[in-house]
Amino acid sequence: MELELSGAACVVTGASHGIGRAVAHRLGEEGARVLVVSRDPEASEAVAAATGAEWLAADVSRADATERIIATCVERFGRIDVLVNNAGTMSVTPLEALTEADWYHHWELNVMGPMRLMSAAAPLMAASGGGRIVNVSSSAGKRPSQDNAAYSVTKAAQLSLSRVFAERYSRENVLVNAVAPGPVRTRLWLGAGGIAEQRGEAADGSDAEAVLGRVAARLPLGRLSEPEEVADVIVFLCSARASTVTGAAWSVDGGSVASIV
Ligand SMILES: NC(=O)c1ccc[n+]([C@@H]2O[C@H](COP(=O)([O-])OP(=O)(O)OC[C@H]3O[C@@H](n4cnc5c(N)ncnc54)[C@H](OP(=O)(O)O)[C@@H]3O)[C@@H](O)[C@H]2O)c1
Repeated sequence: MELELSGAACVVTGASHGIGRAVAHRLGEEGARVLVVSRDPEASEAVAAATGAEWLAADVSRADATERIIATCVERFGRIDVLVNNAGTMSVTPLEALTEADWYHHWELNVMGPMRLMSAAAPLMAASGGGRIVNVSSSAGKRPSQDNAAYSVTKAAQLSLSRVFAERYSRENVLVNAVAPGPVRTRLWLGAGGIAEQRGEAADGSDAEAVLGRVAARLPLGRLSEPEEVADVIVFLCSARASTVTGAAWSVDGGSVASIV
């Protein structure tokens, strides 16, 4: 299948690790030009070096990041065709322990950051004939998790935001979609102090491997997803082949959310 991504100018946020890094790799393999964005300059530069991409250190939860990111993409590539809002993180925190600052942090990261980047990028894409935007939400946005309510609620808001932009820009050939991954084998789950360790400590002191075994056993697929498997779906949505998909929120979750809508 020809994805027609060769030469496409792409911004991928949160591309220094995990799903975003896999998306940057896949887009690079398709001949796209990619701007790798994360807060960590060294990790971003390393991904860019490995994939032939450009990189920029920016915190997408800050209002001043938007203009830098879009301006850098246009400066380096002359245009913007694809935006993947993937940057994100969370820690296991019970509802009663979440502070106002936690709630605002997740709101800025999962809603305001993607909203600002879409607001800046979509008109430019429309003016140049169209584009693709993919927002990386979560199964927790479809079915709230007690791991972190601020994460779940703002990932749900990100799905709504995605739909709003899809309806506003589809007539101008800017197609906006979301993906909702379930548990994925990235730093977020597997890293030191990641979700697997945190869940084990919060529950009964079991180690990360035991937690991961229990999570896998509960999934219809029987295992966690690999970041490359999620990246393949994202890159497809970025491609010319997804030309009638807009306003969708695709589960990429091993069957985690027991719903067909
Ligand atoms: N892994 C899962 O099971 C899972 C499931 C559902 C949804 N997701 C979503 O998938 C996305 C990627 O997660 P992942 O699993 O790939 O995690 P990861 O391996 O920890 O990667 C997260 C990426 O986001 C970047 N990032 C975090 N905060 C940022 C900020 N404020 N500004 C810019 N970049 C930021 C990180 O880089 P720096 O730390 O260097 O900034 C890193 O590149 C997230 O939105 C997450 O919510 C993941």
